[in-house]
Amino acid sequence: MKNILLTGALGQIGSELAVSLRERYGIENVIITDIKADGNKELIESGPFYQCDCRDSKALADIVGRHKIDTIYHLAALLSAVAEANPQKAWDVNINGLYSVLEVAREKHCAVFTPSSIGAFGPTAPKDYTPQDTIQRPTSIYGVTKVTGELLCDYYNHKYGVDTRGVRYPGIISSVTSPSGGTTDYAVHIYYAAVKQKRYTCFLKGDTYLDMIYMPDAIKAAINLMEADPNKLRHRNAFNVSAMNFCPEDQAAYIRRYIPEFEISYNIDPVRQALANSWPNSLEDYAARVEWEWNPEYDLDAVTKDMLKILQERSEGK
Ligand code: NAD
Ligand code: SER
Repeated sequence: MKNILLTGALGQIGSELAVSLRERYGIENVIITDIKADGNKELIESGPFYQCDCRDSKALADIVGRHKIDTIYHLAALLSAVAEANPQKAWDVNINGLYSVLEVAREKHCAVFTPSSIGAFGPTAPKDYTPQDTIQRPTSIYGVTKVTGELLCDYYNHKYGVDTRGVRYPGIISSVTSPSGGTTDYAVHIYYAAVKQKRYTCFLKGDTYLDMIYMPDAIKAAINLMEADPNKLRHRNAFNVSAMNFCPEDQAAYIRRYIPEFEISYNIDPVRQALANSWPNSLEDYAARVEWEWNPEYDLDAVTKDMLKILQERSEGK
């Protein structure tokens, strides 16, 4: 039986991963934590929750000891645009937070899942079908923390034998908790705006190609990787994963299949455009497919249909 600790549980991924983990392993066996204690009352009240800063290794160690935790899903972090606005805080949260989790994992013998990102690549990496193993010279502080995190997790694995694993997520599309402070947030906001106003003003240029993934596939990736046979894992901490590739113009065209009057316009945010320009146009995720049978279900049409249905029903109070 697994006993799991989740950090950053009230964020975009955590709020849905928490529910999936609890369905799979039991409510009392999945302890969720976040630095804040507001925003998702239903989740906070649905099972064990602690307000805890992931940089506080003593508090983390107490929770891990009290609940006999054997696996930590470490999601607490600052995303790309927020990080760029406050690089010092981004380093502190993303690196010192991970360090504290890894130290607790080393002492208490826990496995650790940590997401990296397409942001771990920089402008000198191959742009199209960016390989699993290639040059990584990110130009954003977010990317710098993500590459550092990948290396730190590798180090804790080969030096101390900590069972560290992780994926490089592309932009994540979801309908429960809004993304906050990322460059790929537009790909979620566009669906909310399509349902509400039938129009959306995008902060990235219409021909900016990035990889994306729908939340059910993102969750499946995390759980399947953590359950994979360790003997088959050659990469461990930074598997490229992707499910679809599109630009804002493509996404708008797919939305028009269901809302023909939908219109998109552009008001470019130079900071987020520069971040997107420095990242891969698309990722090659062969290693994940071979080493732990990564196989996403949702493409752009399936996501569009599902997101619009969920948001439409919500707006009608269903
Ligand atoms: P998010 O910003 O939605 O959630 C992060 C959560 O961490 C928030 O609830 C926040 O309150 C919490 N947090 C912040 N500082 C904390 C601290 N010091 N201690 C404890 N909790 C703290 O982020 P997300 O989208 O859920 O991302 C989770 C992870 O996945 C991050 O590592 C992120 O880099 C990675 N990732 C996300 C995406 C994406 O599109 N969402 C893509 C690639 C990688
Ligand atoms: N979706 C994330 C961001 O835009 C990428 O890691 O910051």
